[in-house]
Amino acid sequence: MKRIFRTGIAAALLVGSTTLAHAGLVDYTAGTGIATSPHNMNLYLPIASSGTNTGDPGHQICKFCHTPHNAVATGQSGYNPLWNRNQVTQNFLPYNGLLAADYMTDPTFLEKSETLQAVIDPADMMDGPSRLCMSCHDGTTAIDSYSDKMGSFTPTSSRVVLAPTGVSPAGDTGGNLMDDHPIGFDYNLVAAQDSKIHSANVNIGWIPASDRKCTQISELLYKGNKLTCASCHDVHNTAAKTADKPLLRVKAEGSKLCLTCHDK
Ligand code: HEC
Ligand code: HEC
Ligand code: HEC
Ligand code: HEC
Repeated sequence: MKRIFRTGIAAALLVGSTTLAHAGLVDYTAGTGIATSPHNMNLYLPIASSGTNTGDPGHQICKFCHTPHNAVATGQSGYNPLWNRNQVTQNFLPYNGLLAADYMTDPTFLEKSETLQAVIDPADMMDGPSRLCMSCHDGTTAIDSYSDKMGSFTPTSSRVVLAPTGVSPAGDTGGNLMDDHPIGFDYNLVAAQDSKIHSANVNIGWIPASDRKCTQISELLYKGNKLTCASCHDVHNTAAKTADKPLLRVKAEGSKLCLTCHDK
């Protein structure tokens, strides 16, 4: 595991960039493919075959995340789409609708607000795509550490770092997702109990088809039931799956993404 902490800002390492109209490092259009999207790491990294902070000499895009051979053999996501990065192994603190101070009195981190039906067990919360995202978005793994390559480019902007370590509460030794939308729970169990959560297996007639890249909510769920990072985001910015920025499967405008699942 190569984990390098960096305090420098990402912008200092940008090479060849001109204007940055989008709030992120890269400006792009939703649903136009990965090459021009923020997930083409070569857009941030100098192209050189050696040294630190290098992009891929052949401008390969997939390589930062996948490999055709010798994929990582370990990890805890339970899902390994030919992954070419070390999977972060620690548990993350889940959303539970409570304030940080309440975690400190609950060493199991299973306590939650009364409004929340979702049952999130930190031990399997990151199953599926979510843990894969954390091999960059944890804020400590260098994005150019892939395959057997040791990198050191770790953007520190809040657009990358979702799970900062070392912040309150005291139990946070691995990464904190308690201020992020809940993930890693069985959606269908919640929908069965909560009439304000739409059923996953009906056609989404309440959002115009042109504003979403899915027909049923079940398509957004890992193994048909688990809500993950990939429920809302399409990591590849594909035409068939991305409706809006930032890499969203349903348009953010008018909160259509939220209204896909929440009947409010
Ligand atoms: C920034 C990391 C990243 C890059 C770069 C990337 N992928 Fe992925 N890919 C993922 C993640 C994460 C998943 C699992 C998420 C999911 O299933 O939604 C995935 C899943 C896949 C899958 C299996 C699920 C599916 O969507 O079909 C295929 C195939 C795939 N990627 C192909 C590619 C190819 C080909 C490229 C390069 C053109 C590429 N990926 C680039 C992160 C990446
Ligand atoms: C319920 C839907 C949903 C889930 C689940 C979700 N996101 Fe997001 N994410 C969004 C939306 C919407 C935005 C845009 C927020 C904005 O523009 O105010 C966003 C923004 C982001 C950004 C851009 C930075 C930022 O803060 O705006 C990153 C990076 C990101 N998400 C990664 C992730 C990762 C990694 C996970 C899993 C741990 C995840 N997301 C889970 C909906 C979601
Ligand atoms: C190889 C490292 C890597 C992996 C793996 C990765 N990301 Fe990213 N992601 C980045 C970087 C770097 C950015 C650019 C941040 C910026 O613009 O400041 C980014 C940006 C984003 C954004 C913001 C896009 C925008 O419009 O600004 C979202 C959303 C996002 N990632 C979601 C995900 C999700 C969800 C996964 C897992 C399914 C994932 N990422 C996996 C490195 C990665
Ligand atoms: C893929 C479906 C889906 C999407 C998209 C989605 N949510 Fe959720 N959200 C859920 C589910 C399911 C829960 C758990 C509800 C429960 O346990 O009662 C939840 C929980 C929440 C909670 C916490 C509720 C509590 O009682 O603490 C809030 C707030 C929330 N979502 C807001 C949003 C917002 C805002 C958006 C849009 C940016 C959004 N959600 C998008 C499915 C989704």
